[in-house]
Amino acid sequence: MRAVIATVADPEQPLAALTVGEAPEPATPDGWVTVEVRAASLNHHDIWSLRGVGLPADRLPMILGCDAAGVDPDGNEVVIYPVVEDKGDPRGYSLLSERHPGTLAERVAVPRENLIPKPAGVSFLEAACLPTAWLTAFHMLTTRGRVDEGSAVLVQGAGGGVATAAVALALAMGKRVYATSRDPAKRERIAALGATAVAPGARLPERVDVVIESVGAPTFDHSMKCAAPGARIVVCGATGGHQATIDLRRLFAMRLELLGSTMGSRRELAALLDLCVAKDLRPIIDSTYGFTAVADAFAHLASGDIFGKVAVDFLH
Ligand SMILES: NC(=O)c1ccc[n+]([C@@H]2O[C@H](COP(=O)([O-])OP(=O)(O)OC[C@H]3O[C@@H](n4cnc5c(N)ncnc54)[C@H](OP(=O)(O)O)[C@@H]3O)[C@@H](O)[C@H]2O)c1
Repeated sequence: MRAVIATVADPEQPLAALTVGEAPEPATPDGWVTVEVRAASLNHHDIWSLRGVGLPADRLPMILGCDAAGVDPDGNEVVIYPVVEDKGDPRGYSLLSERHPGTLAERVAVPRENLIPKPAGVSFLEAACLPTAWLTAFHMLTTRGRVDEGSAVLVQGAGGGVATAAVALALAMGKRVYATSRDPAKRERIAALGATAVAPGARLPERVDVVIESVGAPTFDHSMKCAAPGARIVVCGATGGHQATIDLRRLFAMRLELLGSTMGSRRELAALLDLCVAKDLRPIIDSTYGFTAVADAFAHLASGDIFGKVAVDFLH
C-alpha cells in the first residue's frame, strides 16, 4: 500500500528523511481493526519524528501520521483516536507513528476502542484535522486550563494547528481571545476570526486567565507577564525552543499554575466532535493536498507559513 515513511532521522533537514512509497499491509492483532484512510492531516509531530525526536533509529522505518478519518471493516465512517495504551513507554501510552504504524497510509490498524463515529455533517477532511491539534487545544482549554472559570485567553504563535484550534474553540466558548503571531498577514486572519491579534511580546489591554503555550522559549516570558493572578499557563509544545527562562518571583507572587499537557482522552475527542456539530464549528484548514503531493504538504508545514491545518485527501 502507499504510505509516507520516515526511513532515517535527519535532525537538520527533516524533509530529507521523508520517503513516499510502498509499505507492507498493517498487522491487526486481536482487538485491532484496519481502517481504510480517506483523509489525514499533518502535525508538527511528524516533523519532529523526521528529526528523530521521539522516534529513535531502532524503530525505523516508521509510517508517519497521527490523524485520520476513514471507513472501518463494517463500512462505518470513523475518526481515529491516536493515543494507544503502551506499557513499554514511560508515559504509559504512545501516539500512532511512535511505536505503531501511523495514519499516512492507505490503511492503518488501530485498537477497535480507538474508533469514534464520524458525524455525518463533518467531512472526512474536517474530521481528520481534529484528533491531535484540536483535541490538544480542547484539553488544554478545558481540563487543564479550566477556561470556564475565566473570561480571557492568550494563544501564542497563533498560525499553527494547535493555536488556531485554541483561538477558534475559545471564541466558540464565549471567551475574550488574544493571540500573537510573528506574521502580520496571520494576525489579520486571527482578527477576522474575532480574536484580538497582537505582535509577539506586545502588551495586552488586560491580563488573561489561561495562556495556551506551544511555542516555548521565544514566547514564554510574555506568557508569564500576561497572566492574571491565579492564571493557568498550559504548555503542550516548544516549537521555538525548550529552554525557557522562568521568573519564579512572578510564579509565586501571582499564584500562577504552570501546567504541562498532552493530547486528551478518547471521551474528550467524542465531546469535541459533538461541540463541532452543536456550534457548527469546523477546523481551520490551511490547505489540502492529494496523496500524490504529500511531500509538498510536508514542505509547506515545515516552512511555518501556515494558518491552520495541512490536510491530505486520499481520494485524490
Ligand atoms: N503535547 C501534545 O500532546 C501536543 C499535541 C500537538 C502539538 N504539540 C506540539 O505543539 C507544537 C505546535 O504544534 P502544531 O502541530 O500546532 O505546529 P504547527 O502547526 O507547525 O505550528 C507552529 C506555530 O508555532 C509558531 N512558531 C514556530 N516557531 C516559532 C518561533 N521560533 N517563534 C515564535 N513562534 C513560532 C508559529 O506561529 P506564527 O507563525 O503564527 O508565529 C507556527 O505557526 C509543536 O511543538 C508540537 O509538537 C504537542
